[in-house]
Amino acid sequence: MKTKAASSVPRHVAIIMDGNGRWAQIRGLPRIKGHEQGAEAVRECVEGCGELKIEFLTLYAFSAENWQRPKPEVFALMHLLERFLKQKTPELLKKNVRLQAIGRLTDLPPACQYQLHKSIETTAGNNGLTLILALSYGGRLEIIDGIKSLLREVEAGHIDSAMIEPEMFSKHLYTRYYPDPDLLIRTSGEMRLSNFLLWQLSYTEIYVTPKLWPEFTRHDLFAAVEEFSQRQRRYGAVA
Ligand code: IPE
Ligand code: IPE
Ligand code: MG
Repeated sequence: MKTKAASSVPRHVAIIMDGNGRWAQIRGLPRIKGHEQGAEAVRECVEGCGELKIEFLTLYAFSAENWQRPKPEVFALMHLLERFLKQKTPELLKKNVRLQAIGRLTDLPPACQYQLHKSIETTAGNNGLTLILALSYGGRLEIIDGIKSLLREVEAGHIDSAMIEPEMFSKHLYTRYYPDPDLLIRTSGEMRLSNFLLWQLSYTEIYVTPKLWPEFTRHDLFAAVEEFSQRQRRYGAVA
């Protein structure tokens, strides 16, 4: 593969929106207040992506592992998600944003699933930014689901197992319609992937900021994109 300097603007940005709980804790507030403030930061970030003409934005909103959190926090998060979707859909529509979702969506409470599909349908005709929410998402689960889907095709005789290649496998993942992220941002300073897009992030540029997600602004996004534009992407070759 040819090496190339990263183009100045990434096509696809993925974000691990971390630090809501700490943001609230520092202020002596309940964790859910941090999540509420985090939802506001999403709006800011979507607008920033619009300004930069980024094509895809994937936001890690709730991991498959986050179900282990205390029941009241999970309940509040699901309620917030439903409210967020209901309130923000008209705005997404106006901003020409197309909403999509990845993850084990059937794990979500029925009311959330209903609102999610309604928002997806409402914005389906938009052709600006594609906003992809990762919900009940786990990278390993996605890979397992992909393997099962591929095996079904092998068993049906549609493909020969000897012909399985990475590109073909990518078509069996939740992200089959999207390019791999060019830039991954994680807030709150944690240096880990936390089971996010394990397959897709193989050659993604990583940017970690100490800022907590609720205080992440479009200027932080611009700073990340600016650093991205200075990176040399080599894909294992010699520059
Ligand atoms: C990220 O913030 C939001 C979700 C995981 C839902 P956290 O809730 O993980 O915040 P911290 O990491 O505890 O500060
Ligand atoms: C990752 O954050 C998941 C989301 C941002 C939705 P976590 O807070 O759940 O990750 P860990 O537990 O610090 O690895
Ligand atoms: Mg966290």
